Amino acid sequence: MHFNKKLFICCQIIIFNLIFIIQVNSLKSLFNINQDKNYKKPIAYIKINTEKELVDSLSFSQLIGKRVSIRSGGHSSCSFSLINDTINLDLSGLKGIRVDKSSKVAFVKSGVLLDEYYNEISRYGLGSTGGMCGSVGIGGIALGGGSNFISPKFGYLVDNILEFKILLANGDIIFSNPFNKYKDLFWALSGSGHGGFGIILEYKIQLHNIQPFYYTNVLNIPIQFVAQTIILVDNFINSTENLNRKLSFNIISSMSTIDTNPAINLSFFFIDGSIEEGEIEFRKLLKLLPWAKLNKNFETNKTFMEIVELAPKDNNQNIREITKSRFIKHINITTAYAFQDFIYFTNSLVKTVKNNDTVTFSNQFYYHGGNHLLENEKSSFIHRCEESKYSVVFYCQYLKGDSDKNIQLYKDNLKKYLPIFGDKIYQNYPDDEISNWQSSYYGNNYKKLQEIKKKYDPLNYFKNEQSIELP
Ligand SMILES: Cc1cc2nc3c(=O)[nH]c(=O)nc-3n(C[C@H](O)[C@H](O)[C@H](O)COP(=O)(O)OP(=O)(O)OC[C@H]3O[C@@H](n4cnc5c(N)ncnc54)[C@H](O)[C@@H]3O)c2cc1C
Ligand SMILES: *[C@@H]1O[C@H](CO)[C@@H](O)[C@H](O)[C@H]1NC(C)=O
Ligand SMILES: *[C@@H]1O[C@H](CO)[C@@H](O)[C@H](O)[C@H]1NC(C)=O
Ligand SMILES: *[C@@H]1O[C@H](CO)[C@@H](O)[C@H](O)[C@H]1NC(C)=O
Ligand SMILES: *[C@@H]1O[C@H](CO)[C@@H](O)[C@H](O)[C@H]1NC(C)=O
Ligand SMILES: *[C@@H]1O[C@H](CO)[C@@H](O)[C@H](O)[C@H]1NC(C)=O
Ligand SMILES: *[C@@H]1O[C@H](CO)[C@@H](O)[C@H](O)[C@H]1NC(C)=O
Repeated sequence: MHFNKKLFICCQIIIFNLIFIIQVNSLKSLFNINQDKNYKKPIAYIKINTEKELVDSLSFSQLIGKRVSIRSGGHSSCSFSLINDTINLDLSGLKGIRVDKSSKVAFVKSGVLLDEYYNEISRYGLGSTGGMCGSVGIGGIALGGGSNFISPKFGYLVDNILEFKILLANGDIIFSNPFNKYKDLFWALSGSGHGGFGIILEYKIQLHNIQPFYYTNVLNIPIQFVAQTIILVDNFINSTENLNRKLSFNIISSMSTIDTNPAINLSFFFIDGSIEEGEIEFRKLLKLLPWAKLNKNFETNKTFMEIVELAPKDNNQNIREITKSRFIKHINITTAYAFQDFIYFTNSLVKTVKNNDTVTFSNQFYYHGGNHLLENEKSSFIHRCEESKYSVVFYCQYLKGDSDKNIQLYKDNLKKYLPIFGDKIYQNYPDDEISNWQSSYYGNNYKKLQEIKKKYDPLNYFKNEQSIELP
């Protein structure tokens, strides 16, 4: 009887959804296909548009004895949303955002992209933590952290999830929150949601009132002063009580084979107070950094949407990319100069790239301070202050396979630098070349996560290279 029902669903899928089952060769718009394009090859691809299609597709995959890989925005830096020999469930068609203005809550389906999300909620004067790049998917970012310019005030996106709607391996759709019988699953999903517990259909998210305008400014930093700038800015934030929750900043250097000059910008956002107060704090900082150049034409009075739209949307589908990141355990001479030295290294490398590919290097330094809004016990996300106050993200993008061997030098040197910063890694920038990923992402929570994994996915059906292993 049960089998017949499955068979019936299977036939239904074949009849009604055949159009969605496409040969993998035509699979488009995937980011970060590390190096070789054939690195990951699912056996089929199903474009999901409704929850029913997702339920049917999971049951169909299980019927034919295949695992699934789960993809929302496709931005995984290790292509974990694409796995060999699986049926790839592409949730990008699973759209829908509902806002309850009075409780400041949004119900957001997994296929929604960040720019769609921000556009919708900002119409109600509401904003959210999340990420800066508009083409990143809610589906993945909400499970691994989620940090943008207002995060020092409101925490990570995981800190703002109120409930997950999730499809489990046994085919049940359940709601998991901190107060119901699935509170163990809620704890696990809030910070280790990439670990293979099930497929999230929808997130219930706490939104926040946004200010009509935020003071924002940009300073250009000469390469030889990057390390000193980092130390001085950290001192500056420490110097005033509560300033760590009121401002946000990042330092981003980028250079390419088209323009080999390293453009290094410090972006400053005042996230809790008026334009006037922001300007006062910014001027205090500027006094400490005599080498910083101010762009007088920069419009310093910006809306939430204008700020999130400052980040470039990463839409080139043919790009090859290497991305690695670490939280910085301590800001000191060693770590600050390591960041500066790596900018020098990429700048010398970009000048020696011999073939005519377009290669871009980006070295990024982020502030997350004040992100300890949630007690560690309430979620499995371990990356809190002080030792996760800052992180570095390094990436290299290029277009041609011929460049793989040139880029090897970059990869080799990057591997030498990363341990200098620390051994804790942001789940949203996974690293598939390390052996101790369990403690790097999950610290002491790993054992407890294994027990929860066993309870909700006892056959380890949702398995990928770095999903939580059975105990
Ligand atoms: C250009 C760029 C900019 C970025 N900027 C930021 C930033 O500003 N702040 C920040 O915090 N992060 C940032 N990130 C990192 C980003 O948060 C992660 O890459 C995130 O996991 C991507 O989510 P996705 O849905 O786009 O990716 P996907 O590749 O679709 O998914 C990522 C992981 O989540 C799993 N997954 C996806 N959807 C579901 C689901 N519905 N149920 C269960 N598992 C699921 C996938 O299987 C995969 O393991 C950036 C990444 C890129 C490439
Ligand atoms: C995926 O399979 C291909 C062969 O089809 C193989 O070359 C590749 O190394 C595999 N990738 C992984 C990550 O196992
Ligand atoms: C800033 O304060 C933190 C916590 O009090 C401390 O660990 C850190 O060393 C301080 N940084 C500087 C540059 O003084
Ligand atoms: C640096 O900031 C300026 C604005 O002052 C902007 O035009 C430029 O694109 C930024 N460069 C980078 C690499 O972010
Ligand atoms: C910021 O810009 C808005 C809209 O242009 C304007 O109404 C407001 O007065 C500005 N605030 C300041 C402090 O300049
Ligand atoms: C600086 O911090 C790093 C990373 O936490 C640490 O390994 C190193 O010993 C520190 N160096 C100094 C000089 O304090
Ligand atoms: C540059 O690329 C073009 C086309 O991709 C190729 O024909 C040409 O030979 C290349 N030139 C060099 C110097 O590599």
